[in-house]
Amino acid sequence: MVNADNLAVRLAADRARADATLERLFAERPAPSPRLEAAMRHGVLVGGKRLRPVLVYAVGRALGADETALDAPAAALELIHAYSLVHDDLPAMDDDDLRRGQPTVHRAYDEATAILAGDALQALAFEVLATTAHPRLPAMIATLARAAGRDGMVAGQALDLAAVGGHPDVTALATMHRHKTGALIRAAVRLGGLVAVAEDDPRLAALERYAEAIGLAFQVHDDVLDVTGDTATLGKASGADAARDKPTYPSLLGLEGARARAAELVDEGVAALAPLGDAAAPLAALARYMIERDH
Ligand code: IPE
Ligand code: IPE
Ligand code: MG
Ligand code: MG
Ligand code: MG
Repeated sequence: MVNADNLAVRLAADRARADATLERLFAERPAPSPRLEAAMRHGVLVGGKRLRPVLVYAVGRALGADETALDAPAAALELIHAYSLVHDDLPAMDDDDLRRGQPTVHRAYDEATAILAGDALQALAFEVLATTAHPRLPAMIATLARAAGRDGMVAGQALDLAAVGGHPDVTALATMHRHKTGALIRAAVRLGGLVAVAEDDPRLAALERYAEAIGLAFQVHDDVLDVTGDTATLGKASGADAARDKPTYPSLLGLEGARARAAELVDEGVAALAPLGDAAAPLAALARYMIERDH
């Protein structure tokens, strides 16, 4: 049984573990550009829930992986995510000033440095993963690359920008969300799984359905929080989507409709875990956390 207390303890422990790995990466070598280094650290080390690393650890553990082998994929996912946020906040994209309770990277430094910091965070993600030893490493690198690029997050960001001011239907909105946010969440689940079991293990197929559902639920809830959250709790400006005329779940389905859809998706995600039995209880708890979180 996973109650709220031991979920919180596990979240804190996995976040601390991910933070330690990320810190080590920066401590490993001296940096030729102190300004770039500082901007990268600002983008990845300051704040953040570390949900993607937490998912890597939770899935890996549920399938019996050695925890140490999960560190590299967990850190790689967070680095890609951090890069995506640094670029997402740029004036050319969402033009936000606040992220994780701090000035965004282009505000704390400058736009060019923020672009470069994002680029370098992405490269570092692949370095971390590629320099780890694992028999399924090629599949892991390919998973991360597809989730990050033209089949995944970057494609979703392109769809997001194209949709500004438009009126997509709920199917088009789901496609956008599945790419911009769902892809990295699916990659977190798959990488945690690949550390433990072979690509044809049927549990990976069940986990794929889980990830698909909770990935979309996560972004639906992000859209909801943009309406219901306050800036101090969110650590980013609330009301930013409406201000920028972004199509969102609340804008299409209403607040209650969006909440109901997110809850339905979480139920789907939890149901998909059935083949994993009791080992999946922490994953079910994480699924619920996706839409219960206040930031
Ligand atoms: C924010 O992600 C961006 C989205 C994909 C919606 P998170 O809510 O995981 O942000 P951090 O990492 O905790 O700051
Ligand atoms: C962000 O979506 C998705 C990525 C960064 C890839 P949002 O633009 O909704 O994220 P927030 O609300 O700024 O965190
Ligand atoms: Mg955005
Ligand atoms: Mg944004
Ligand atoms: Mg948002």
